[in-house]
Amino acid sequence: MERSQWGTRAGFIMAAVGSAVGLGNIWRFPYVAYENGGGAFFIPYLFALLTAGIPILIMEFTIGHKYRGSAPLSFFRMSGKKLEWMGWWAIFVSFVISTYYAVIIAWAMRYTIFSVNQAWGSDTEAFLFNDFLQLTVTPGQTGGVVWGVLIPLILVWAIALGILLGGVKKGIEMANRIFIPTLVVIFLIVVIRAVTLDGAALGLEAFFKPNFDAIMDPQVWVAAYGHIFFSLSIAFAIMITYASYLPKKSDITNNAFITGFANSAFELLAGIGVFAALGFMANQQGLAVADVAAAGVGLAFVVFPQIINEFPGFNGLFGVLFFLSLTLAGLTSLISITETYVAGFSEKFGISRNKAIIFGGGLAAVISILFATQGGLFFLDVADYFINQFGVAAIGLVEVILIVWVFRKADMLRDHANAISDIRLGGWWKICLGIVTPIVLGYMMFGLLKTNLLKEFDTETGNYEGYSDTFIMLGGTSVALAALVFGILFSFGKWHKDHA
Ligand code: PHE
Ligand code: NA
Repeated sequence: MERSQWGTRAGFIMAAVGSAVGLGNIWRFPYVAYENGGGAFFIPYLFALLTAGIPILIMEFTIGHKYRGSAPLSFFRMSGKKLEWMGWWAIFVSFVISTYYAVIIAWAMRYTIFSVNQAWGSDTEAFLFNDFLQLTVTPGQTGGVVWGVLIPLILVWAIALGILLGGVKKGIEMANRIFIPTLVVIFLIVVIRAVTLDGAALGLEAFFKPNFDAIMDPQVWVAAYGHIFFSLSIAFAIMITYASYLPKKSDITNNAFITGFANSAFELLAGIGVFAALGFMANQQGLAVADVAAAGVGLAFVVFPQIINEFPGFNGLFGVLFFLSLTLAGLTSLISITETYVAGFSEKFGISRNKAIIFGGGLAAVISILFATQGGLFFLDVADYFINQFGVAAIGLVEVILIVWVFRKADMLRDHANAISDIRLGGWWKICLGIVTPIVLGYMMFGLLKTNLLKEFDTETGNYEGYSDTFIMLGGTSVALAALVFGILFSFGKWHKDHA
């Protein structure tokens, strides 16, 4: 069977940017930057982008392009089957993430509708947790299904899987060619409106004001690296899979730089828009920006609704555009993450792409119902923490060490990229991959293990968010470990004869 291919170079770039630009850019970046030194965060951030983000993106593009397979198949071919497990590990981490990422998109979709008449009323926090999520159980219990979340969730999966069923060119590429330009236009409108609000300057000042002490804090560097991995969708098997559909003649290095900078540009824009809006609200309520800024789900789903409430006219429109941006940005990322296991399953078992979408994507959709129950938010929170820290960051670390040091593939990959790219990779690339990235990620892993094993969280139980040991085990540790175990198990099976 002929391997699917992107129709155009722009199509591939749109898809890669579509994967990178997601919920992480709009609600995660602004508060991560703000909490980690504001203007001064840009130094560790740029450093992480240039020493880890773009170098790893180049590596993953090169691997996918050269070996033309899903992540496990590409690793299998590169290493004489020894590294196949790493590809499956990344795929199972992606599988888990897709189950709850879809749920956050479902919230955004529902909030797009709520925006029309500010259905959340004046107490937006109570609305989110009590009325919308119906969070009435203790962590670890599921409670009943919340239909207000489940219905948009079904819609999210129907759209994502429907687009995947269209194929690489007519599905993924086409959708990104429509969604990404639309997203850019509506998000620009949101940002322009935000910076022209009264008090916007206050917010921007809070956001950009550099706290130079922060750059002396190792945790800030760790935050920058962690964010870059998540934001660029690297170490998730995604970029290998997408690059495997590139035509033989493709510029790899250039595409990686374009993808990396486009993602950062979008992030910066989001930071400006979000903080301008926060400045407006602080000004309205006579508070300091620090008092209205919030982290995590609270920023998009509690604070933004408040901002929309106070808007000087066209409240509904601003809200719709904001939540529609979140929805579109999230959908293109969900499509990319689902494609990793669609490609892997179909190649491994020799089943058609469509069967892999129905069974693989269908299974993820069914599992995601767990997060649409009354206790769903706690499950989502704990799974997200563990799978990101002990999935993505760990895979990134293992990937660079094995590829550069154990299997010594860096020179060969560099030659492959250089033979077809405009920008030629020099010694810096290998130094970043082989030395800088492993040191920072190694330090990061060590700190994480220490905090979790020694129960150093500042809570009663000493666990993340003060969750009970059982819940941490069931919802967090075992999920992160299962991704690795499944990864290893899957690598024992034989490839379907078409791909051996
Ligand atoms: N890159 C996405 C973002 O910034 C996050 C993501 C990671 C999405 C991995 C899918 C897969 O939101
Ligand atoms: Na991103």
